[in-house]
Amino acid sequence: MKHFVKISLLFKRIFYITIIILFFTSSILIPSDESIALSKTKGENLFIEHCAGCHVNGGNIVRRGKTLKISALKRNGLDDPEKIAKVARLGTGIMSGYEESLTKGDDQLIANWIWEQAQKAWIQG
Ligand code: HEC
Repeated sequence: MKHFVKISLLFKRIFYITIIILFFTSSILIPSDESIALSKTKGENLFIEHCAGCHVNGGNIVRRGKTLKISALKRNGLDDPEKIAKVARLGTGIMSGYEESLTKGDDQLIANWIWEQAQKAWIQG
């Protein structure tokens, strides 16, 4: 009988701990407004992670004529998100590709974001 009480107490504890864990993980797993906003700017986050080092604000710290601004993209025949995505994956000229560090679809997310920014002249908001 004593044993039984101990074991049932143990189960009770496990039960409460499980509830607590579920409570905390659900607040992570169920998307809040904030995380939906984050997924909207996934392209931006990827850009910051992989591209901004050289292309800060859509510029180019290595080659001045090869920026991500609309005029340069047009001049260089890259005025299309598909083509920008290809550059993200495979690189161009002296820029190496980032295929290995990008997950499938990331190239497109980055390219769409760049294209959007180019059309807004890289002015935030
Ligand atoms: C280490 C520096 C560096 C990083 C990081 C980098 N680039 Fe570049 N990027 C360059 C250079 C240099 C060029 C010009 C290459 C050439 O033509 O020789 C370039 C050119 C480009 C162009 C062509 C622009 C034009 O006007 O012709 C695009 C598009 C581009 N990069 C996109 C990206 C994207 C997307 C990423 C991130 C996935 C990225 N770059 C990361 C250095 C970088």
